[in-house]
Amino acid sequence: MTDRSCLIDGRWQPAAQGEWLEMTDPADGAVICRIARGTDDDIDAAVKAARRAQPLFARRPPVERVRLLNAIARRIQAEAERLAQIESRDTGKPITQARADAVAAARFFEFYAGVADKVLGSSIPIADDVVDFTVREPLGVTAHIVPWNYPLQIACRSIAPALATGNAIVLKPAELACLSVFEIARICEEEGLPPGVLNVVPGLGSEAGAALAAHPGVDLIVFTGSVATGSRVMQAAARNIVPVLLELGGKSPNVLLADTQLESALPLILKAAFPHAGQTCSAGTRLLVERPIFDRVSEALAARLPALTLGRGHDDPDLGPLVSAEQRGKVEGMIRSGLDDGASIITGGRFIGNASAETGHFVKPTLLTVKDASASIAREEIFGPVLTMMAFDTLEEAETIANATDYGLVAGVWGRDIARLHRLAQRIRSGQVFINCYGAGGGVEIPFGGTRKSGFGREKGVEALQSYTQVKNVCLRIDLAEGT
Ligand code: NAI
Ligand code: MG
Repeated sequence: MTDRSCLIDGRWQPAAQGEWLEMTDPADGAVICRIARGTDDDIDAAVKAARRAQPLFARRPPVERVRLLNAIARRIQAEAERLAQIESRDTGKPITQARADAVAAARFFEFYAGVADKVLGSSIPIADDVVDFTVREPLGVTAHIVPWNYPLQIACRSIAPALATGNAIVLKPAELACLSVFEIARICEEEGLPPGVLNVVPGLGSEAGAALAAHPGVDLIVFTGSVATGSRVMQAAARNIVPVLLELGGKSPNVLLADTQLESALPLILKAAFPHAGQTCSAGTRLLVERPIFDRVSEALAARLPALTLGRGHDDPDLGPLVSAEQRGKVEGMIRSGLDDGASIITGGRFIGNASAETGHFVKPTLLTVKDASASIAREEIFGPVLTMMAFDTLEEAETIANATDYGLVAGVWGRDIARLHRLAQRIRSGQVFINCYGAGGGVEIPFGGTRKSGFGREKGVEALQSYTQVKNVCLRIDLAEGT
């Protein structure tokens, strides 16, 4: 594959310092290509280009943005297979999951095309000689810092609503995986997005990322990633009084009531736990099971997990490799310290190399039972294929355990007794609750975001329009003496 440079003001160019970073295939460590190593000079040029381009872009009639976003959506659909192949090789994820990501990427543009000319204000009655109304204006330049787990989806999830509402973008993709993002930028350009409206500066988090977060010329920072980095981004933004939208992951519970139909639920529980080998912010990684069915669930999962396949993304296994040796080491370390803290292993827990034992970053899907909800393995985000399981006796206990982490992104509740299901949906602190399901396809239509350390602000759905705009109130007094 060819090297990927920065896109600044409509020109593809190497980083100002001329340096490059190698991108590797996580299944075998082979170098795929290089990306430019952007630094503060490139970020500054990109922000300036976005500042220049944004007012002109925002003043065009909204219908032009509708047509543009629809055209981009169609191109993503037309190139979906190519995008999925790139995403799978780059991130390591199974090709079926990468194909779903490409479908969702197109849907983001299609969905926000549908609302780009319906960003409405309101008229507010005050007095007979006053006309008062609100308009929703773009924020200006939006900074997007994207992680490596879902580069295609997460980039499109913020690019589409930002463009729909008339913002210009500077996007910093992740150094571990980001190749699909360059394809999206190319498609946007080829479909007629004006130069400077979408700028891409790849590079390291500590260089390009930190420079973007600290830049006084941005009007919003949209960040998805770890809590530690999110906090750093928020502190940098605070110095410039720039708002942030933070999506920082989770430790999402799936609560199984005793009347759950296990045959239909368990396959979905596994899908929820191990998307992209568990490297998913919204993964359902904690299983809370009502005591009467605990053993049945444990036995059923002990039988199912070893049957899950591991391999290269393009061979379409159930689980691909983790993104890096570092991530694999982190996951294995957390499993080990969980066992030291008293967790018991039901299945998995070992490194397995069936693509390339030396370099592929594979971890077997792992099921642990945990007795103490305060153990760190039961509370901390692992970001690998590790599912913890705990028993509960009462609804109150389920609620307490479900809320016993610092996170609050997604929750699933399963069973047939509507009153008990709904009570849990009311009491669990999270941004989304699913009942007898988990996720909603790409979930493009429904608001997504967290509470507590999962972050704040909402993406996806019509709600995201609030995140990418601000309200201006215009109050006009009519001079009655003049016209009458
Ligand atoms: P990270 O949060 O450091 O990286 C996410 C993005 O932030 C990348 O584009 C990175 O280049 C950028 N970044 C890093 N340092 C920055 C800084 N000082 N200023 C601005 N941008 C910066 O996450 P990392 O280190 O790749 O993964 C560590 C852990 O974070 C994972 O094990 C996982 O638990 C969590 N994570 C959660 C994600 C989610 O979807 N919520 C996505 C990726 C990681
Ligand atoms: Mg990091």
